[in-house]
Amino acid sequence: MGKVILSNVKKSFGRVEVLHDINLEIKKNEFTVFVGPSGCGKSTLLRLIAGLEDVTEGQILIDDMDVTMLRPAKRKVAMVFQSYALYPHMTVYENMSFALRRTKYPKEEIHRRVMDAAEVLQVTHLLDRQPKQLSGGQRQRVAIGRAIIRDPKVFLFDEPLSNLDASLRVKMRMRIAKLKEKLNTTMIYVTHDQVEAMTLADKIVVMNSGNIEQVGSPLELYHHPRNKFVAGFIGSPKMNFIKVSVTALKNDVVTLSLPHDRSLKLPVALPKTMQDMGPGSSAELGIRPEHLIVCDAASSLLTGCIQTVEHLGSELYVYVRIADDQNILVRVPGDKNFKVGDTLHLKALPSDCHLFHPKSTISFERFSSVSHG
Ligand SMILES: Nc1ncnc2c1ncn2[C@@H]1O[C@H](COP(=O)(O)OP(=O)(O)O)[C@@H](O)[C@H]1O
Ligand SMILES: [Mg+2]
Repeated sequence: MGKVILSNVKKSFGRVEVLHDINLEIKKNEFTVFVGPSGCGKSTLLRLIAGLEDVTEGQILIDDMDVTMLRPAKRKVAMVFQSYALYPHMTVYENMSFALRRTKYPKEEIHRRVMDAAEVLQVTHLLDRQPKQLSGGQRQRVAIGRAIIRDPKVFLFDEPLSNLDASLRVKMRMRIAKLKEKLNTTMIYVTHDQVEAMTLADKIVVMNSGNIEQVGSPLELYHHPRNKFVAGFIGSPKMNFIKVSVTALKNDVVTLSLPHDRSLKLPVALPKTMQDMGPGSSAELGIRPEHLIVCDAASSLLTGCIQTVEHLGSELYVYVRIADDQNILVRVPGDKNFKVGDTLHLKALPSDCHLFHPKSTISFERFSSVSHG
């Protein structure tokens, strides 16, 4: 349950507008993840949906009901914070049942819900303990349980795992994935963790400076980033951006000049707004580190000297200087024996190339084919 519609939502604190005209539709039972740099407005947007902050302009609908003016308790949403915020003097059982005990729910119903939630989150054996007798991961599970028993239409999570150590995060991530299968509830989840976003989300919303840059499935954003910001934000390590210049643009084929006098012809469907991109203008070619292929000199697109090699066990991160002011990162299998000072020749599949206009947030369409000239 819980379709959420945000329509023309703006939020200002004093004179500063921190969210600008947000429009977003979240389908029922969808797992939506908000990502974006610190300070871009993720928590504020979540708090607006929860009703913990008032919108400055616009409307919020949950299941087609306008909740813009409703108090948090009336919205049927539950929020889990980064800090677990449990009541220290109450047992786990009391913490989990607290919100319902203040309502007129029958005791048996409250008990049943607490026991169900405790089982889902595997905290049944901890029900008599106080928060100080729990580990960080256990506390976070109790905080989630407390939200579950309210049976909300919409679950809001604000970076719920960021206080946990790395191995616990992985465990909790899998638990949340299971929870998503079990509960028929819309979930909106804020994280700055790439892996959490990619693995948990049905839909990712990429935010930047109070705006939504792009909305899509994890793979849509990975393969079809709409602009350079999204391209650089989704994917880790991040996409390489290579400075190129346009030498010709004819019949939807753009010819680019690359370092070392290489040239590259790419078929593009040029958006109207980019028609002014004539010969001589500069652009950026985006290629992810995992999409660069080591090849021979004759078929190469890029060539350079290895500056640094990082061994990660299963793979190597190789930093290659392809021009005086330009290093790129290449990911290669861990058994390769590359050394600093070696020359590396590289190419990429056309479908893995992205082209961006430096002065615009609009990228070219993805290419269907490519030829080296
Ligand atoms: N209560 C507040 N008063 C004034 N400014 C705030 C308040 N809450 C958030 N902000 C500002 O709003 C912007 C967005 O913050 P936030 O939503 O917390 O970002 P995020 O969660 O993406 O890191 C930031 O510039 C922040 O300083
Ligand atoms: Mg935040």
